[in-house]
Amino acid sequence: MKVLKTIDEMKAWSRKVRQDGKTLGLVPTMGYLHEGHLSLARQSMSTCDRTVVSIFVNPKQFGPNEDLDTYPRELEADRRQLERLGVDALFLPTADDMYPKGFQTYVHVEEITDQLCGKSRREFFRGVTTIVLKLFHIVQPHSAFFGEKDRQQLEVIRKMVDDLNLDVEIVGLPIIREPDGLAMSSRNQYLGKAERKTAQSLHEALQQAQQLVAQGESSVATLRSRMRTIIEREGRAQVDYISVCDPQHFEELEEIQGKAMIALAVHVGKARLIDNCLIERI
Ligand code: PAJ
Repeated sequence: MKVLKTIDEMKAWSRKVRQDGKTLGLVPTMGYLHEGHLSLARQSMSTCDRTVVSIFVNPKQFGPNEDLDTYPRELEADRRQLERLGVDALFLPTADDMYPKGFQTYVHVEEITDQLCGKSRREFFRGVTTIVLKLFHIVQPHSAFFGEKDRQQLEVIRKMVDDLNLDVEIVGLPIIREPDGLAMSSRNQYLGKAERKTAQSLHEALQQAQQLVAQGESSVATLRSRMRTIIEREGRAQVDYISVCDPQHFEELEEIQGKAMIALAVHVGKARLIDNCLIERI
């Protein structure tokens, strides 16, 4: 596996891949890799000739009171996992290279970033779209792979690609979970033993809501209150939002008819956890 530490090295490597007539897949990550990240890399490897995984803890997507400094980092273990998987290249840019002194250009997707996570994390999506657009320009991949765990992020990136006519195929892939249902996340690392148990309630709440809808429930107020009860049961979780919304624009619904998305953000100890699912009421 090639380890590329500068933007110039990355550009030269990907230029060569394209000159050789090969297709290139990109998997952007912030590292501390788990099976969710690896599932994206595997999919890229099975559909593209060459795969690059990037690891960059992007300072521009952390708010002033968020966990930039404590975000888990384990570069050597990440490198070994990617090597074992057979990934072709690992891109490890530095913050100084990505955001040199005087950096002042940002990409901002408007309306859909005002909803859900955008309400409590004002800087977040602007930071994500800016870094992802930079990565697209540097790597120039044919396809880029993102997880549905961050479904709003995925839709925001699709919108940017669409609005700016970028030539990259965006592939969204299913949420990978722990055996007990908790969606895998680098931030699960923050959870103590009791908190880890509380964290399972997010998935439990989503399952309960899905079951209620399958039984014919259509009132969003009822679903919300049932989910909140499950999550707040042990008094250890603090709900940021429980949303039942339309899956494209994230506008809140009152009644479920047809397709909808249920999305949650919940603080458990130091961790802010998110999860979601799609539902359909026929
Ligand atoms: P990070 O949280 O490291 O996630 C990298 C990618 O892995 C994202 O596309 C995310 O949706 C996906 N992912 C994380 N957990 C997953 C799971 N349990 N199942 C499936 N996919 C999962 O998301 C980011 O980094 C950053 O915002 C980034 C896009 C890299 C921009 O900085």
